[in-house]
Amino acid sequence: MWSGRFREPLDTEFEQWQRSIVFDWHLLPQEVAASKAHASALCAAGILTMSETAELRAALDAIAAAHASDAGKAAVRDHASAEDIHHFVELSLVERIGSLGLKLHTGRSRNEQIATDLRLYIREQIQLTIAALAAWANALVELAKKSGEAVMPSYTHLQRAEPVLIAHWLLAYVEMLLRDISRLKDCAARLNFCPLGSGPIAGATLTLDRWIAAKELGFTAPTPNSMDATSDRDFVLEFLQALTFVGLHASRFAEEITLFATAEFGFVLLPEAFSTGSSAMPQKKNPDLTELLRAKVGRIHAAAEAVTLQLKGLPLAYNKDLQETQEQAFAVEFVPQMLSLVARFTAALTFNHNAMKTAAENGYLNAMAAATYLVYKGVPFRTAHEKIGNAVRYALEKGVELNALALDELKQFGSEFDADFFSAINLNSTLDCHDVLGGTARHRVRLALEETRARIAALAQVRFAAPAYPEEAVNAGA
Ligand code: ARG
Repeated sequence: MWSGRFREPLDTEFEQWQRSIVFDWHLLPQEVAASKAHASALCAAGILTMSETAELRAALDAIAAAHASDAGKAAVRDHASAEDIHHFVELSLVERIGSLGLKLHTGRSRNEQIATDLRLYIREQIQLTIAALAAWANALVELAKKSGEAVMPSYTHLQRAEPVLIAHWLLAYVEMLLRDISRLKDCAARLNFCPLGSGPIAGATLTLDRWIAAKELGFTAPTPNSMDATSDRDFVLEFLQALTFVGLHASRFAEEITLFATAEFGFVLLPEAFSTGSSAMPQKKNPDLTELLRAKVGRIHAAAEAVTLQLKGLPLAYNKDLQETQEQAFAVEFVPQMLSLVARFTAALTFNHNAMKTAAENGYLNAMAAATYLVYKGVPFRTAHEKIGNAVRYALEKGVELNALALDELKQFGSEFDADFFSAINLNSTLDCHDVLGGTARHRVRLALEETRARIAALAQVRFAAPAYPEEAVNAGA
C-alpha cells in the first residue's frame, strides 16, 4: 500500500503487531458502502467512467456478500497480508477486477475512510441499541399494566418509605431508558456528517462533490473541516459515555430484582428460564442474569475510560493512536443483545403481590398520609409531623399499626383526629393523596402508562437520510 519509499522490509513482528485487520474486519460492510459512495463521487468528477463505476460498485458488493457469513468474516480477520480493512478491500478488488481496483483510491485516504466507517458503524450500533432499549421499555410498560393497582413499599435509604403502585416503580425505569434513548439520538445527530473528501488531512486533491457520498450514505452533510474530520473520535467517546448510562440503569434494575428475589424480600419470582442452579446446593435458584447485568457496566465504562485516555493530548490531525479507539467501540457490541435478553427476562417476571402488599401495609408507610390528614384539618405540617411521630411511637410500643389505634388513643396526640382519619390512611388513600403529575395516585399512574407508550414509540424512531441535495433544493426553488 505504501512501500514505495522504503528500502528495508518491515520487522515481521512489528508488522503483525500494528495491524488492525484483526479487529477492523468488523467494518467490512461500512468500508464497502463508503467505497461505493466514493466511486460515485469519482464518476461525477470524471475520474471513472460510468461502466468502470458500475463494475467497481458491483465488485464491492460481491466482496461484502462473500464475507457476510461467520466463515467469511473469519477469512477477513485472518487474511495473510492485509494491514487493515481498507487494504483488504483494495486487495480483494484487484483480485476480482484487476487494475481498475487500484483506481478507487484516487482522491481519498485511509484517514478519511476509517473516520467514515466508524461513524457508519456507530450509527448502526446506536440504532440497534435504541431498538433494544425501546423493546425493554415496552416490556416494562407491559409488566406495569399487568400489575394493575398492585402495590409495593417504596424505599429511601433502603428503609420502607411510602406505598407506591408497582407500575409506578416500573415506570421509573422507563424514564431512565427514555433518557438513554435521547442521549443516543443526540450522539447520532452529532456524528452524522460525512468525512469523505477530507483526504489525509487537508482535503481531497480532486474537486469532488462531497455531497454525493454524504447523501448516498445517509449523512446529514459533509463534515466542515478536513483536519477535524480525519482526527475526530469524539463520537466514539460520546457513544460509549451514553452507553455507560445504559449500563448504570441496567445495573440499578438488576440490583433491585436481585434483592427483591431474596427470601428476605420475597417480592419477585425469578423465571426459571433465566436462572441457574448450584452444582453444590440442590435447593438454589440463582439470579445469574441480573448479576451479570449488574456487572456489565464495568466493561462499558472501561471502554469509555480507555478512549478518553487515548484521545487526550493528541495533536492534530490523524495519529495512529486513533486506531486504538476502534476496539473499545467493538467491545460494547454485546449491549443490544444484553438489552433484548433483559426485555425477555422482564416479560417473564412475576411478582408476589401479597408479600408486596403486606410489606406496604406494615411499618407505618401511611405516616405521611396521616400527617397530610392533619394538614387538611388546619394543622401546620411541622406540627402535624410531630403529632404523627408521637402516634407512631405510641403504636410501635403497642406493636400495632396506626389504623389499629382507637380514636380516643389518637386524640391524646391532637384534638384534630376524627373518625374520617381511618379512611384517610387506608392503602388507597395513601396512594391517591399523591395526586400530582408524576405521583403515584392511581389515576395518575394510569395516565402515565398511556402517555409513556406513545413517548417510547415517538422517541424510538430513528431515521438517517440526507436532506435535500443542494442542487435538488435549488431546483425545487428552495
Ligand atoms: N487502520 C488505521 C486506523 O484504524 C487506518 C488509518 C491508517 N492511516 C494511516 N495514516 N496509517 O486508524
